[in-house]
Formats: sequence, structure tokens, C-alpha cells
Amino acid sequence: MKNTTNKVGWFVFAFLAIGVGLYPLLYFFLDRKFGLLASKSDALLADVFWNTGFYGHILFGGLALAIGWVQFSKKIRSRQLNLHRNLGKVYVIAVVISGICGIFIAFNATGGIITMLGFMGLGLVWLYTTSKAYFAIRKADIQLHQGFMIYSYAACFAAVTLRIWLPLLTIGFGDFTVAYRIVAWLCWVPNIIFAYFWVRRKGLIIG
Ligand code: HEM
Repeated sequence: MKNTTNKVGWFVFAFLAIGVGLYPLLYFFLDRKFGLLASKSDALLADVFWNTGFYGHILFGGLALAIGWVQFSKKIRSRQLNLHRNLGKVYVIAVVISGICGIFIAFNATGGIITMLGFMGLGLVWLYTTSKAYFAIRKADIQLHQGFMIYSYAACFAAVTLRIWLPLLTIGFGDFTVAYRIVAWLCWVPNIIFAYFWVRRKGLIIG
């Protein structure tokens, strides 16, 4: 029974990560009024820096999300350590690019200062925890690496939780902008709290 629950859990985890990870590709195939772009001014849509930030963010964010879940499989870590190392390097590079671009495009986030600060906070936590995890493994500190990677992927998973919360909040408040301001925080703060308890339960000492 426990085995079946585990398998279902893994399936849902991987399905959400890959599904939302591939979602940004729609922005490359559909017209320029798709999704969030519909709410942006023509001046912003014509801005080369913002476009670079936006596409850099969604492409590399999607990549980090789509591959990150694999790293949590004990089986893969023990049987194919090289795969774990290579995917890890790609993940870290993707986080650095997507995180910096995410913080940059947060300045023009829909919903103003509350949304802006929410996404900036998320971006900083994502970059900080990922770099701590990277430098920990460079020093062969596996526990610290695991602990910070749990935090890092919990931040990354905000892309999934955002897309679960947003429709519910939009229906609940009947106002997209209000929902968006709330979700800029709700998409990641509970994830980090969840990560905190998970890290503690696993006995991974951080600090
Ligand atoms: C974890 C750190 C992240 C930060 C700080 C962040 C930040 C942002 C910001 C500021 C925006 C623009 C909001 C606006 O202009 O109103 C945005 C949009 C977007 N982000 Fe992220 N994001 C993060 C993670 C991710 C990940 C992992 C993905 C992968 C799928 C992703 C995919 C997208 C997409 C597709 C959009 C366009 C909006 C939409 O279609 O829903 N983000 N993000």
C-alpha cells in the first residue's frame, strides 16, 4: 500500500513539474498576445531588455522545473551518479539565468509593488538556496547540499503552486489583479515553510 502511495506521489510530482515546465513553450509558438503578454503595454512588449528577461526567465525556469524533480530519486542518485551531477549542473545554470531574469522582469510585474516584492523575494531565495547547495557539494558536504536543494526546488515549485492558486483566488476574489498580488507571495512562502519541516524531518542540519 505504501509503495502504491509512493508511486502515485512520484507520478503527480513528475507530471506537474514536466507539465508546468513545458508550459512556457506556448509563448514561443502562440502569438504575442498569449497569457501574461496580453496585459502588457505595447511599449514594454517592444522593449528588448524586458523581452530578453522574459524569454530567458520562462525558458530556463521551465528547464529547471522539468529536470529538477529527477534529482530527488534515490535510485538515480545511487545508480547513475554522473547523470545526477550533469543534471545538477544544468539545473544550477538554469536557476542562475532564470532567477536573475525573474528578478529583473519583476520590476514590471502586473499588480505593482506588492507583486514586485513577492517575486523579488522568491527570486532571491531561489538564487541564495541554489548557490548554497552548489557550494556545499563543492565542499563535499552532502547533508547541507541536500538541505539547501530541498529549499531550492521548493522555490522552483512556486511555478506549479502559482498555477494552482491563481485560478482559485481569481474565482474567490472575482478580481485578477488582487489574486495576482496575493499569489506572488502565496506561491512560495508556504513551499518554503513545507521545505523547512521536510529538512528538519530528514535531520539535515543547516546553519
Ligand atoms: C522561482 C523563481 C521565480 C521567480 C522569481 C519568477 C518571477 C516571475 C515574474 C516576475 C514574472 C512576470 C510577472 C509579471 O510580469 O506580471 C514571471 C512570469 C512567468 N514565469 Fe516565473 N518566476 C519564477 C519561477 C518560474 C519557473 C520555475 C517557471 C517555469 C515554468 C516560470 C515560468 C513563468 C512563466 C511562464 C511566466 C509568464 C506568466 C504566465 O504565463 O503565467 N517561473 N515569473
